[in-house]
Amino acid sequence: MRIEWQVAPMPQWEADVIVFFFFEDFQEPLPYVQKWGTARDPQFFQSIFLKDFTGKLKETAVFYSASDEKMPRVICAGLGPRDQFDLDKLRNATASAFRKGRELKLKRIAIPLSALEDLSSDLAASLEESLIAGLSSLYKYNGFKTTNGKGEEFPQEIVLCAEKNPGEDLRALPDVADATMAGIKLARDLVSAPANKVTPSHLAKVADRLAQRHGHNLNIIDYGTAESMGMGAFTAVARGSREPAFLIVLEHAPAGLEHEKPLVFVGKGITFDTGGISIKPSDKMEAMKQDMAGAAAVLSLFEILGRLKIRRRVVGILPCTENMPGGQAYKPGDVIHSLSGLTIEVISTDAEGRMVLCDALAYAKRYEPALIVDIATLTGACIVALGNQVAAVMGNNDKLTDWIRSLGLRVGEKFWPLPLWDLYFESIKSEVADFKNVGDRSAGAIVGGVFLKQFVANETPWAHLDIAGTAWTSKDLGTIPQGATGFGVRTLMEIIRRWEESSL
Ligand code: BES
Ligand code: ZN
Ligand code: ZN
Repeated sequence: MRIEWQVAPMPQWEADVIVFFFFEDFQEPLPYVQKWGTARDPQFFQSIFLKDFTGKLKETAVFYSASDEKMPRVICAGLGPRDQFDLDKLRNATASAFRKGRELKLKRIAIPLSALEDLSSDLAASLEESLIAGLSSLYKYNGFKTTNGKGEEFPQEIVLCAEKNPGEDLRALPDVADATMAGIKLARDLVSAPANKVTPSHLAKVADRLAQRHGHNLNIIDYGTAESMGMGAFTAVARGSREPAFLIVLEHAPAGLEHEKPLVFVGKGITFDTGGISIKPSDKMEAMKQDMAGAAAVLSLFEILGRLKIRRRVVGILPCTENMPGGQAYKPGDVIHSLSGLTIEVISTDAEGRMVLCDALAYAKRYEPALIVDIATLTGACIVALGNQVAAVMGNNDKLTDWIRSLGLRVGEKFWPLPLWDLYFESIKSEVADFKNVGDRSAGAIVGGVFLKQFVANETPWAHLDIAGTAWTSKDLGTIPQGATGFGVRTLMEIIRRWEESSL
């Protein structure tokens, strides 16, 4: 999608349609709409007062101009009640407007900058959120249907209209939105594709392509190397599958920052989770192709970092394997030696996420990280606790978990904290090893976090994001179509962009 500025006096703005936002039950339209009425289309101004369109959140209406060839249509988009306005409403209203434009097969959709000026004081945030949500809502997964034609896409261009030069910061936003959407698309495409296509080898190929294109460093650790390095937990999971497993390490180190302490992101890359010997019920098992959503989110960061040439050293560690019940598979009762030296008694081979992550977390130490964040579709219990639109955030530093929660909210990704108090360790005490890989059924999401905590140094700020509920949506969310969500990509990017401000 092209995103372009059109800096000109209002009467000269030109596109197939322009989007106007309205609060619910508006008495008078926002100032820029009034200006439009006077400067360009008095008829439109009369029509909206018929109040067929009331401005309810996500409501849209199309108005046509008889004489205005340069802007023959207006899409009115509802924001809901004025006193409930926030960025989330703007995201939803933009998504509805863009989808209406697509439905009408319009090529060029205009957004007047003044629309956003009238809404909020933080213009940059409004524009960025509005754009990204709009683009996100138009995402479509091009699957493998042989009947899929290459039809024309609508819209093809977003036109940002301004009367005067918007300044450097705003001028840069289309690139940010475009890069961010490219990242979200990559994550969604990878999670949507089936597990016979997206294998660990495929993820390694994608990492290689990203490294080539953007100049990232890449280290692909194969099974044999992982074994000789002592990654007993990662290889235990990988053993049950014939599909080659890889621990992928990507590094974005801009010139001059090679020795900066990096931000390290670890993503769970189980390309299919059968449960292993502790096999899952077959009903809905196909959903377990999404079990690499953490790895997909981290991979996507490197697309965005490369496109935007972000000045920060970032490392991504992706343990990628299938979890299969092959003849060599690890078994309940096995004791595993992890890379950290700690021993693990396997109770369930279906708790494989924490097994592969613990070796990745131990490996992360070698980079002397300034921060470690892991992101994983780790537990069904997280879905029980928070549902499908909220992810869990846990960690060893309250300031960090709070910060992540607020960053997430700004970009429309909701996180809620769960505690990792020592009392939860009780349930994973083991008779034969340092601890077990699962406890009883209580506090399942927390116990996953407590397990991972054993592998991170206390003094390194670390957060664990459980996205089991949010990686996939079975219903259309308006700003996110049904299917893979790309959840986490935006929050992780915010962590990188705003790391300086965090004072962690
Ligand atoms: N990949 C699953 C968790 C999951 C469930 C992700 C639903 C996405 C949607 C994970 O590996 C798993 O099987 N977890 C077990 C943990 C249990 C054995 C402690 C679970 O949630 O049942
Ligand atoms: Zn599992
Ligand atoms: Zn899993």
